[in-house]
Amino acid sequence: MLNIKNLEVSIDGKPILKGFSLKVQAGEIHAIMGPNGAGKSTLAKVLAGHPDYEITAGEVWLDDRNLLELAPEERAHLGLFMSFQYPLEIAGLTNFQFLHASYNALQKSKEQKPLSEEEFNTFLDEKMQLAGIKESFKTRNLNEGFSGGEKKRNEILQMAVLDPKIAILDETDSGLDIDAMRVVAEGVNRLQGKDKALILITHYQRLLDYIRPDFVHVVIDGKIELSGGAELALKLEEKGYDWLTAGKA
Ligand SMILES: Nc1ncnc2c1ncn2[C@@H]1O[C@H](COP(=O)(O)OP(=O)(O)OP(=O)(O)O)[C@@H](O)[C@H]1O
Ligand SMILES: [Mg+2]
Repeated sequence: MLNIKNLEVSIDGKPILKGFSLKVQAGEIHAIMGPNGAGKSTLAKVLAGHPDYEITAGEVWLDDRNLLELAPEERAHLGLFMSFQYPLEIAGLTNFQFLHASYNALQKSKEQKPLSEEEFNTFLDEKMQLAGIKESFKTRNLNEGFSGGEKKRNEILQMAVLDPKIAILDETDSGLDIDAMRVVAEGVNRLQGKDKALILITHYQRLLDYIRPDFVHVVIDGKIELSGGAELALKLEEKGYDWLTAGKA
């Protein structure tokens, strides 16, 4: 489904990703871990099509499409979803308007009928329940004044509305209290299916108790240094990253 081959990315001439490769098949959940500054968020932003990053080598394929040649919205229309470590706040746009517009843009790209406000409202109620989000969040401005945990829940709501083929969640667990983490994890689990894939960027093994990964990868200095199963996350929790970086820079 997603095939990242030997990706090299720089920002302001400084290399960040240095030969990053990863294959993700339908039905799989991959966790990406690794120390601060290793390049995990950079990977997510590059996949989303963030313009600041210079791709100096490598390829990214989503099924038979060359992802790096596509505009960010085309990537989204192909079913790529991204949640960011620091979600955007937009004044003057309500959460409802944002979700409705995003949903209808996706419908349009699939040549399907857009939903009216009323139809979308009914559809949204069900998704809000799934993400454990209060009704009042419809009319609030997008992420404005949302607490950290509320922003994260709201991302799960966006994901539920857009029903992506492949989702990349960057530190969805950060700032969540235990109950919120369970709600978010349940939402994510319910959205995952055998024709879909999920990449979770996380620092904490805790989240992986709720969302069970098939693979765990450790990113160090811009590339995957080690891959394993769910048990690797437990080992990292116990041993940290030093044993992997020993002998390097
Ligand atoms: N826009 C930018 N301008 C300058 N440096 C950047 C920019 N974006 C990323 N970097 C640098 O790239 C490196 C990797 O950053 P990135 O955010 O990908 O790390 P990360 O693995 O997500 O870390 P964390 O676990 O702390 O979230 C860091 O040294 C960071 O300072
Ligand atoms: Mg990050």
